[in-house]
Amino acid sequence: MKDLVYRTADSYYKAKQFANENPEAFWADIAGNFEWHTPWDKVLEFDFLTPEVKWFLGGKLNITENCLDRHLKTQPNQTAIIFEPNDPSEAAQHISYSELHSRVCRAANMLKANGAKKGDRICIYMPMTPELAIAVLACARIGAIHSVVFAGFSATALAARINDAECSILLTSDGGFRGAKVTPLKEIADEALTSCPSIKNCIVLRRTGQDISWNPIDLWWHEELEKVNDVCPAEIMDSEDPLFILYTSGSTGKPKGMVHTCGGYMVYTAYSFKNVFQYQKDDVYWCTADIGWITGHSYIIYGPLAVGATTVMFEGVPSYPDYGRFWEVCAKHKVNQFYTAPTAIRALQKHPTDLVEQHDLSSIKVLGSVGEPINAEAWHWYDKYVGKHKCPIVDTWWQTETGGILITSLAGVTPQKPTYATLPMPGIQAVLLDNKGNEIEGETEGILAIKYPWPSIARTIWGDHERYKNVYFSAYPGYYFPGDGALRDAESNFRITGRVDDVVIVSGHNLGTAPIENALNEHPHVVESAVVGFPHDIKGNALHAFVIPSTEVSANKLAEELRALVAKTIGPIAKPDRIQVVRGLPKTRSGKIMRRILRKLASGEHDSLGDVSTLLNPEVIEEIKKNN
Ligand code: PRX
Repeated sequence: MKDLVYRTADSYYKAKQFANENPEAFWADIAGNFEWHTPWDKVLEFDFLTPEVKWFLGGKLNITENCLDRHLKTQPNQTAIIFEPNDPSEAAQHISYSELHSRVCRAANMLKANGAKKGDRICIYMPMTPELAIAVLACARIGAIHSVVFAGFSATALAARINDAECSILLTSDGGFRGAKVTPLKEIADEALTSCPSIKNCIVLRRTGQDISWNPIDLWWHEELEKVNDVCPAEIMDSEDPLFILYTSGSTGKPKGMVHTCGGYMVYTAYSFKNVFQYQKDDVYWCTADIGWITGHSYIIYGPLAVGATTVMFEGVPSYPDYGRFWEVCAKHKVNQFYTAPTAIRALQKHPTDLVEQHDLSSIKVLGSVGEPINAEAWHWYDKYVGKHKCPIVDTWWQTETGGILITSLAGVTPQKPTYATLPMPGIQAVLLDNKGNEIEGETEGILAIKYPWPSIARTIWGDHERYKNVYFSAYPGYYFPGDGALRDAESNFRITGRVDDVVIVSGHNLGTAPIENALNEHPHVVESAVVGFPHDIKGNALHAFVIPSTEVSANKLAEELRALVAKTIGPIAKPDRIQVVRGLPKTRSGKIMRRILRKLASGEHDSLGDVSTLLNPEVIEEIKKNN
């Protein structure tokens, strides 16, 4: 496949058919577009029951040579990263491929000088500065496994992630700018490191210049860089060597460290990036996600850089200094592809449209959406005010676990349909299942599942392969089960209807209710709690916590303390919007909390609870309704 990309519907449908009939030949053809030190000797080995998936077996490569070195031959002066700072009065930075290469190599040498080697885990807890991307790539350069922790997580959450992966180095920053706020990242990191014995060095980037405390293991980033040069040959990696770990919430308390490997992840992120956004040479592409999430890994860093694109990194927030910031940045950098989350669109939609209209958005060719279902109202607003009815919108469905976009339209190549992610990418075999695990055909609704592996599927959960098997491969043997429901129209378009497990997507963030309940239960006056999602007009979903106190308490005071506890244990993003003190939770006779009923109660659907007479304690329902 030349140039990795389908530019016409015809070539797309042909590729799809070919991929379904000859998946290995299909992926081998795509993988041939990259630089390998040694070609693979087998394309794929898999068994969804064990489960085990391996791609491009025996292949040797380094992803940074594909993202950096090979572009030096053809476009060394092309801008790789445009950094747009939080404060609009601070100058943007344009970092060319050759400069990025040099900075990555120097940072890689800094890591090596501090003892890092292939296979070590390095935790990155940093704001959205170019050094964050450089840190990620520097780890990849030397074969160290990066574990980026979103800079909005609390000290407890950071420590849990560092300890799970036994990271040896922490890369952080004095602080981070986010809108009008300055986040005390070093202070949070210091607190985390009081319980992280594996960390030997903490390398600190100076970003805000704020006062910080200093410990014996701390080193300044800029001082460490001065001690090394920028010549760093890439570590030769096996296709299946881990590239990174990224944590995502699960239905139980502990976050899941999803492990992605070098070869397949590179192939799939580049392939999907180029096809979905129809990126063309010299385009400027902007994904507004944070690198702390998978979207930032795959579609700010690896996918775009692997194809030699210009990718924008934005440090700030959509509301600062005003709600026109996104559009100001699009106009300033003449952005051609713009990729954001429905929650951001819904927040912006609440503000006067001249905040959009006063900026020249004529450069935009493609719009994208990710992270949660996009509701019709937000879709149409995006189409009208940002796209001026001229830009295709790609609604991209995927997950941390999938590594790359699996279901989407290709911008301007395949048909779009508002609120529908539409069709699986060529090479992706998506099906709908009924509750018993039988495939169901045609126009229908069911459980989304994927029946054949793709190169960027996560290979395991760090340190817990059994959990990987249980969560993704056990409910419906022979399939990958992503945890989402979907419906399919007569043209085979998929519309994702939402989670079918205890994960709630709040403002595009994937939050497990179990870890939040665990945090609430830590409070000395909480006996039991249950957290469910309810629809929210900006966040998509918000959290409603039902808590049973042990003594008579002031509900307001308890709620305040519980919010603070959740912020401290997980992070401010997980704070419930509502905390309701109750005397009991509806339970089955076997003692299981009936979350289905709590979800209805939290959503105000008091009249559609169904039969509650079989509950152990139906009387609690009336009390909950009364105070709801
Ligand atoms: O429920 C789906 C929702 O986000 C979940 C994955 O979350 P996370 O691993 O944090 O990755 C988010 C960024 C890829 C999915 O299981 N989701 C993601 N994209 C969409 C979506 N739901 C509907 N439509 C989407 N386009």
